[in-house]
Amino acid sequence: MVAPSTLLAESGLPRHESERLLQAVTGRSRMALLGGEVSEEEAAEFRRRAAARRSGEPLQYLEGSVQFGPLELAADRRALIPRPETEQLWELAVKALEGTPAPVVVDLCTGSGNLALALQHAFPDAVVYATDISAAALELAGENATRTGLRGVHLLHGDLFSPLPQHLMGRVDLVIANPPYLAAAEFAGLPGDVRDHEPPGALVAGETGDEVLALIAASAGEWLRPGGVVMCEISEFGSERARELFAAYRAEIRNDLAGRARFVIGTLSDSGADGD
Ligand SMILES: C[S@@+](CC[C@H](N)C(=O)[O-])C[C@H]1O[C@@H](n2cnc3c(N)ncnc32)[C@H](O)[C@@H]1O
Repeated sequence: MVAPSTLLAESGLPRHESERLLQAVTGRSRMALLGGEVSEEEAAEFRRRAAARRSGEPLQYLEGSVQFGPLELAADRRALIPRPETEQLWELAVKALEGTPAPVVVDLCTGSGNLALALQHAFPDAVVYATDISAAALELAGENATRTGLRGVHLLHGDLFSPLPQHLMGRVDLVIANPPYLAAAEFAGLPGDVRDHEPPGALVAGETGDEVLALIAASAGEWLRPGGVVMCEISEFGSERARELFAAYRAEIRNDLAGRARFVIGTLSDSGADGD
């Protein structure tokens, strides 16, 4: 048996990180660990994860979970780690959908399923579709649907809108997305824990960074009902371009809590995709 204090001290990690890792490895609370000891197997696993953390692996992947709004989700290398600013996008979506009976929601680029699942949680009668081009990410989203008990979300594999059933055309209340929005040249400049561990396809959109947003802007109008809302997370340096791309939806830019322009929100005119 090994004393937790010994493991924490030898880990070489900041105290809050080593405590979180030890809790994840043992499944015990901080208080429970204070008074007890851990097995040799748990100590070995903790040392393995501490070494991975020292080499830059994100803490959430090593803990195996992340909090997103009201949900605790599994996190691993199959999908991007959901970020706090994306929780703000979820909050904006909840406000936009309030009062809509049985809303129809499409979450493009769903990754771990965070937005789709948190919206299904907020609106149990919503009909939620989520798509992703990465089969591995969708597998994690499926595990998160099981983990949260939110099994009603339709998880579809494919490019943006292409896997959606045709009968949704013109009927969607909300199209939401946190798409890849970095330019290829920005990838090398990312912090090592992001660049070397999170999926590149979740981060980089193409040469200019606005490729996926442009495709969403081009097609959202075919799927939204008149008055339906489209909202996306964007790069803090991409707000002018996002305003241009979503001009047909009378787009507004919203800031995150740090005051950075991070969200584009638009509405399809009441006369539909062909209206002004
Ligand atoms: C920035 S991550 C967002 C993941 C998750 N929604 C979140 O908020 O953490 C972008 C996701 O888009 C997916 N993706 C990239 N290109 C796509 C495309 N053309 N169609 C559908 N999904 C795509 C990636 O596989 C990745 O899971």
